[in-house]
Amino acid sequence: METQKLLYTGKAKSLYTTEHPDQLLCVFRNDTSAFDGRKIEQLERKGMVNNYFNAFIMQKLAENGVPNHFVKIAKDDASIVKRLDMIPVECVVRNYAAGSLCRRLGIEAGLELTPPTFEFFLKNDELHDPMVNDSLILTFKWATQQDIDQMKKYAFAVNEVLKKLFLDAGLLLVDYKLEFGRHESGLLLGDEFSPDGCRIWDAKTKKVLDKDRFRKEMGDVVEGYEEVAQRLGIKLPQVA
Ligand code: TMP
Ligand code: ASP
Repeated sequence: METQKLLYTGKAKSLYTTEHPDQLLCVFRNDTSAFDGRKIEQLERKGMVNNYFNAFIMQKLAENGVPNHFVKIAKDDASIVKRLDMIPVECVVRNYAAGSLCRRLGIEAGLELTPPTFEFFLKNDELHDPMVNDSLILTFKWATQQDIDQMKKYAFAVNEVLKKLFLDAGLLLVDYKLEFGRHESGLLLGDEFSPDGCRIWDAKTKKVLDKDRFRKEMGDVVEGYEEVAQRLGIKLPQVA
């Protein structure tokens, strides 16, 4: 992995080429961003925690029929992933009302959503990730009908696997954001699954354990992520 070239820098991750043309090194940085990149801070250990968190979740999903880009952990803060041609939309599934759903529709926070909801957002910080729908996605050719059908199917399959995994650890998976990409083997879940891109509450106390701690200046952001990791049985390297 010597001849690495920086291919892409996102708000919290960087992608490097590897000697394998089909594989990239995904580095999870400590940068933590909110409000479309208007609030950015470095949070110590976050890159490492998210790397191990993502690896654990992606492996669980692969075992349960949700194909994804994860290959293996390469370093404490980086993993090897398959190179994907990303679809520029974000898929959000919600089990409980929070965040923009409450703001847009005046729904009371914490309301259980039955059945769970599904929304598409266009990945565009300058436009503040506007909500889009199947019709817009097809017209502007961001994805095909087959991609749309598969993204919805996988997004709900993720819910079946993770809702139970989290509940068994006394945690509520409130909502989450997924991104997909095309690979020669078909559509794969890409990007990451970590507390940066989902909401997780303690099932009894409703304590917030995700990036809302950062958005709302609640403190102990990475400590929240680590509490979730520990409760899910994710082994994190001990830092001296
Ligand atoms: P929202 O309530 O702001 O629409 O977000 C729903 C969930 O999706 C929440 O867990 C945060 C996550 N999300 C991201 O991680 N990045 C994004 O750009 C968006 C729109 C949502
Ligand atoms: N990930 C987006 C950002 O950094 C949205 C968010 O998580 O609030 O701005």
